[in-house]
Amino acid sequence: MVSLKLRAVIVAALICAFGLLLVGASFAQDYKASKTCKMCHTAMHPAIVQGFDKIAHPKALQDAAKNPAAVVAVCDANSPVKAADIKYVLGVGKRGQAYIGADMKTLPAEWSVTEKKWVTTSVQDAKTQCIGCHVTGYDAAKATWAEEGVNCDACHGPGSAHLADKTKIVNPKKLTPDKEAMVCGQCHSKGTDTTKAYAFPITYKPGGDLAQAFIDAQPKTAGRNQQYSEWKTSKHAGPAGVTCVKCHEPHGANTTQPTQLRKPIVELCTGAGCHTNKDMKTHAPLAPAGATCATCHMRFGRHDFAKPGA
Ligand code: HEC
Ligand code: HEC
Ligand code: HEC
Ligand code: HEC
Ligand code: HEC
Ligand code: HEC
Repeated sequence: MVSLKLRAVIVAALICAFGLLLVGASFAQDYKASKTCKMCHTAMHPAIVQGFDKIAHPKALQDAAKNPAAVVAVCDANSPVKAADIKYVLGVGKRGQAYIGADMKTLPAEWSVTEKKWVTTSVQDAKTQCIGCHVTGYDAAKATWAEEGVNCDACHGPGSAHLADKTKIVNPKKLTPDKEAMVCGQCHSKGTDTTKAYAFPITYKPGGDLAQAFIDAQPKTAGRNQQYSEWKTSKHAGPAGVTCVKCHEPHGANTTQPTQLRKPIVELCTGAGCHTNKDMKTHAPLAPAGATCATCHMRFGRHDFAKPGA
């Protein structure tokens, strides 16, 4: 016979143990720094790790104090942004770069890399309007993040469970094409989260359904970070299943093409299984020298792949 008192103690102990399990489970959902992933995957997948170190994603947000050279703009006595005001740098500096001050607001001008000049912009609350897409593992409630830049866990999900059980990790290529594209769409789209307070989803995790976390704004004019919003309206989406990673190598492995394209553009579009019946000479005989399929079908980088004029 177990006394009532002892039974209560056992129950309490069981509740405690269960509680610890729950805490353990939530720790098991933690994000891991990319250096942890690289410890094993550098030897297992050298092309992935070497490629990844060269591309823009991991440098999408940089701390100016740790790396002053991250700032590509010309900052001087007359510039609208002073080097000393910059806390974080947004964008590695391919086309443009923006800056966040110590108050976590964006500074009032961005640097255009292509035009080599400052462009005035409206001041935004970076915590709700920017940072979620430029870091890994953003905690919206605390406005903290696991790692600067777009690193492994941003696309593979919180990685700590994988350390105990190697099968527990999202491999986007094992998802349906829709869910796979959402892994990229969590950042490459325009809209708001479901509370409308954030310009990015705050509850989405890779493998999940982005539509439950994000309201797409269906942008009609060209703009930054809206490739998924545009792609969804194209014939490449849906049953065709021509997702982002069919054209872009996600880690930049084994490619030196711009924007991590798997092949030069014309080759990519007319390759096996794709537009084999369209070649530049017969389909676009009047196209200027150096033109590609993208010149007419991706004007301003648009990912709706529309016919010109449509
Ligand atoms: C202790 C070594 C180790 C570490 C650290 C590690 N991995 Fe792995 N990972 C493995 C091994 C081993 C496999 C192969 C598992 C298999 O094929 O059964 C693997 C497989 C994978 C796969 C493919 C899974 C699949 O289903 O195809 C992905 C993606 C992956 N790891 C990502 C990561 C990420 C992201 C991190 C950092 C959070 C990480 N790994 C950290 C050892 C590691
Ligand atoms: C956590 C947010 C996030 C996720 C997830 C994400 N991206 Fe990005 N991506 C960015 C940001 C931010 C940049 C800009 C980086 C920069 O210029 O510093 C970027 C840049 C790019 C670029 C341009 C690179 C260049 O050289 O100009 C490509 C291509 C790209 N992403 C493709 C993808 C694909 C494909 C996926 C899904 C497999 C994906 N991204 C997932 C945020 C994300
Ligand atoms: C929904 C996700 C998302 C949000 C929110 C977001 N970005 Fe980005 N940002 C991206 C992605 C994805 C890219 C790369 C794709 C592109 O340039 O079209 C990018 C690229 C950039 C670049 C580099 C552009 C270039 O072409 O070199 C800058 C600068 C930038 N963002 C600044 C900002 C600022 C400032 C904010 C807040 C006002 C912000 N971003 C909010 C996802 C986002
Ligand atoms: C921008 C999103 C993104 C980021 C960031 C990312 N991956 Fe991946 N990863 C993918 C996608 C998508 C696949 C599926 C492969 C494919 O479709 O080519 C993948 C596949 C893998 C695989 C499995 C390879 C295979 O052959 O199936 C490993 C291992 C892996 N990634 C490791 C990493 C590591 C380590 C990092 C960080 C250094 C990382 N990934 C960062 C998107 C990403
Ligand atoms: C059918 C092939 C194809 C698919 C699918 C595709 N892209 Fe692209 N993407 C391209 C090409 C080609 C370029 C270069 C365009 C140029 O040079 O004008 C590009 C450029 C980009 C850029 C650089 C900025 C810009 O807008 O030019 C980003 C970022 C990007 N793609 C992200 C994505 C994401 C995210 C997806 C999935 C939602 C995606 N792409 C799907 C072919 C593709
Ligand atoms: C000089 C501009 C130009 C170039 C370059 C170009 N196209 Fe086109 N493309 C067009 C026009 C215009 C149409 C519409 C013709 C029509 O409707 O009869 C079209 C139609 C198409 C269509 C049919 C689209 C639909 O929705 O029915 C496909 C597919 C296509 N092009 C693929 C390609 C590929 C692949 C390349 C590169 C090898 C390419 N195009 C290069 C101008 C161009």
